[in-house]
Amino acid sequence: AVERTLSIIKPDAVGNNVIGQIYTRFEAAGLKVVAARMAHLTEKEAGGFYEVHRARPFFKDLVGFMISGPVMIQVLEGENAVAKHRDIMGATDPKKAAPGTIRADFAASIDENAVHGSDSAENAAVEISYFFRATELCPRTR
Ligand code: CMP
Repeated sequence: AVERTLSIIKPDAVGNNVIGQIYTRFEAAGLKVVAARMAHLTEKEAGGFYEVHRARPFFKDLVGFMISGPVMIQVLEGENAVAKHRDIMGATDPKKAAPGTIRADFAASIDENAVHGSDSAENAAVEISYFFRATELCPRTR
């Protein structure tokens, strides 16, 4: 089924100037950008986005990293988009990510791992609405 997923290019990858190279991976996988915005998140915005991780030991570092520079936030649409996006990102820890995945090629550590992607269709809907209004999504009809 055609799905949508929320993708974030994190401050490390933006700082390394590889937004375009990562977009190319999305496009090569058949994922279409239907909304996009660059933002320098506040502590509140980043903490709210990662609310489910608030009790985890890495939460403070995660938020600190996510507000250390601008991020590129996009909604990707395509057949099986949630799983497809996770496949091309690779494992959360770049040391465990398969060769040729975004994290294997662009990430340095589990804390600075280049990209975020929704882990389920349910969470994708929540994460998309966290950053975008429904009217900001641009259906791709061709
Ligand atoms: P992300 O997919 O954005 O979701 C939460 C982030 O927390 C994750 O990517 C990692 O960058 C970061 N993180 C740091 N340590 C861990 C850990 N032990 N397990 C999962 N995520 C971690």
